[in-house]
Amino acid sequence: MEKPKVVLGVCGGIAAYKACELLRRLTESGHDVRVVPTESSLHFVGAATWSALSGHPVSTEVWNDVHEVPHVRIGQHADLVVVAPATADMLARAAHGLADDLLTNTLLTARCPVVLAPAMHTEMWEHPATQENVATLRRRGVLVIEPAVGRLTGVDTGKGRLPDPGEIFEVCRRVLARGPVAPDLVGRHVVISAGGTREPLDPVRYLGNRSSGKQGYALARTAVARGARVTLIEANTGLPDPSGADVVRAGTAMQLREAVLKAASDADVVVMAAAVADFRPAEYATGKIKKKDGQEPAPITLVRNPDILAEVAGRRARPEQIVVGFAAETDDVLANGREKLRRKGCDLLVVNEVGERRTFGSEENEAVVLAAGGGETPVPFGPKEALADTVWDLVSARLG
Ligand code: CTP
Repeated sequence: MEKPKVVLGVCGGIAAYKACELLRRLTESGHDVRVVPTESSLHFVGAATWSALSGHPVSTEVWNDVHEVPHVRIGQHADLVVVAPATADMLARAAHGLADDLLTNTLLTARCPVVLAPAMHTEMWEHPATQENVATLRRRGVLVIEPAVGRLTGVDTGKGRLPDPGEIFEVCRRVLARGPVAPDLVGRHVVISAGGTREPLDPVRYLGNRSSGKQGYALARTAVARGARVTLIEANTGLPDPSGADVVRAGTAMQLREAVLKAASDADVVVMAAAVADFRPAEYATGKIKKKDGQEPAPITLVRNPDILAEVAGRRARPEQIVVGFAAETDDVLANGREKLRRKGCDLLVVNEVGERRTFGSEENEAVVLAAGGGETPVPFGPKEALADTVWDLVSARLG
């Protein structure tokens, strides 16, 4: 079978060195990668590196191998074009359809999915010119990944960092798997909660649960690959941030509630994949609770936490907002699921069986997605990503 053809565009920014790692991941996973650097990027990483790592000749302009018409051929034959890092200048040139080097020519001729991973200083990213260019590109179906927040060149810190190359690779993998279809969640803001809350008893102890957060992260990654603006509210997962998602940390149910309600205020979709503790200790001991010889331990009194899913579904920050819940059940899985869907008032409920036979933290899942109004979509045992994509398919159909 022919290897999928990927064009890796590299622009002139300090993050160009991270593209070497992305290239390696792509080639090692069986992709045929052609690197198209811009002239200025060669100040950061030389053509010899790209040529050696990709196994292909490297050119920045259209005047080499003219008989092969590279300025159209490279784009025409690609299954995916990814530009990482994409500078503010590249976003501007791509948005305006300029064709003054091999990479911009390639972007104009490509009919396959295009992923741009911008990296620049925060001021340049936030500049209205850049933001308008990004909006233009997204409107045209280009997947522009939100930059990460963190250390930038020099002493600066802020939004504008190139996401981890492994995470950009994950986006590329998903986009390639979806094939030549336009991203269907462009312009949508989706809020996803993931992980398990911890309810503190004292400074060293908490009541928690065994949720790994992997299903929520799979939802976030697949939503990014389908073009959504993603807010991921994570509780105690310890997982690496997915590229392109704004990650908010929340430890307890009350913190998660606050973060979800805030993010939901302008969301098109809210997915509650987090395992939220139904109860929290009534009292928090500011000092460590000590055992005392000859004394029974003191009972722990619990109080109810608010039901965040029911609250979000009940208040609907926007009338057309779609609310998705999860339910892990040990018995009467479907009957309990249907009852829970009604009780919580959400649009979709993903029900799966948990228990002794099922392991938490695994990479796979099997579930049924129940819809308000009667639909039932079984999702066979498989990667959590596949379940995530089914959820987005159903959400996308409802969004219209
Ligand atoms: N959930 C929530 N707030 C809570 C508890 C749960 O938002 N305090 C959400 C979860 O994120 C999940 C859904 O509700 O999407 C179902 O969680 P589950 O624990 O199965 O529901 P419960 O209402 O707690 O039902 P049960 O009586 O089975 O525990």
